[in-house]
Amino acid sequence: MTGPWWPRCCSVRALRKTYRLGRVDVPVLHGVDLDVARGEWIAILGASGSGKSTMLHLIGGLDRPDKPRNGNPRAEIEFQGRNTVQFRAAELDRYRSTQVGFVFQFYHLLPELSVTENVLLGAMIRLGRLGYLRQRAPLRRRAREILDAFGLGDRLRHRPSQLSGGERQRVAIARALINDPAMLLADEPTGNLDRKTGGRILDVLAKVRSDGGQTMLMVTHDPEIAARADRIVHLIDGRIAEGPGDPA
Ligand SMILES: Nc1ncnc2c1ncn2[C@@H]1O[C@H](COP(=O)(O)OP(=O)(O)OP(=O)(O)O)[C@@H](O)[C@H]1O
Ligand SMILES: [Mg+2]
Repeated sequence: MTGPWWPRCCSVRALRKTYRLGRVDVPVLHGVDLDVARGEWIAILGASGSGKSTMLHLIGGLDRPDKPRNGNPRAEIEFQGRNTVQFRAAELDRYRSTQVGFVFQFYHLLPELSVTENVLLGAMIRLGRLGYLRQRAPLRRRAREILDAFGLGDRLRHRPSQLSGGERQRVAIARALINDPAMLLADEPTGNLDRKTGGRILDVLAKVRSDGGQTMLMVTHDPEIAARADRIVHLIDGRIAEGPGDPA
């Protein structure tokens, strides 16, 4: 069931993740359940190492949850009515490149590409080389439009190393938006920035979301930043606990 009336963006059930280090199993997520409404902004708080990044990677299709074993229920990540856990590799790639935009703490921009090229990279991955070449002109216009709106109109040919941290993060957000995703997954998007610059990045994300209606899951360590979201959840002992306060 998909369609603009669908009130839920995604719903996560029984999400488990165990990393294997040599012969040792390192269980991280022990059955995460989370319902996310369409257009909702959720802040995810949790101690370092609690599995916040792992959870975002699973929801965004960058990695896969554990297969069910020992009688555990089957993990589900339902996105607009479809379970992405069941997707084959190609379908997961498509989901990731069309529906999800990632923003990371350390930007992950390619140093040898210009600002515009970094933003267009997401579209190249989605469309393939030929598809991209066919749509290059409107895509370049769109990239320019987003970068202008982020105050980067005079930085289009700069390399990431020639930008400040806040500028780099705005480029990364522009890159996340080029494919017009339904959901933004931001992993400590202000974690590498001073408070003032971080505040500006949050303003950009808040505006993006109010203009575009994206659902946003944002990991942060900072309760003040989390307070700007619609809802705060905590990741504790590999599970989600709801609530605004500090449960510790
Ligand atoms: N690829 C991996 N292989 C093995 N263990 C991993 C891997 N990725 C993460 N881990 C382990 O899983 C646990 C959770 O990691 P994760 O990065 O999800 O935590 P986090 O909550 O995002 O932490 P932080 O706040 O420090 O970013 C950590 O103990 C980490 O060492
Ligand atoms: Mg992390």
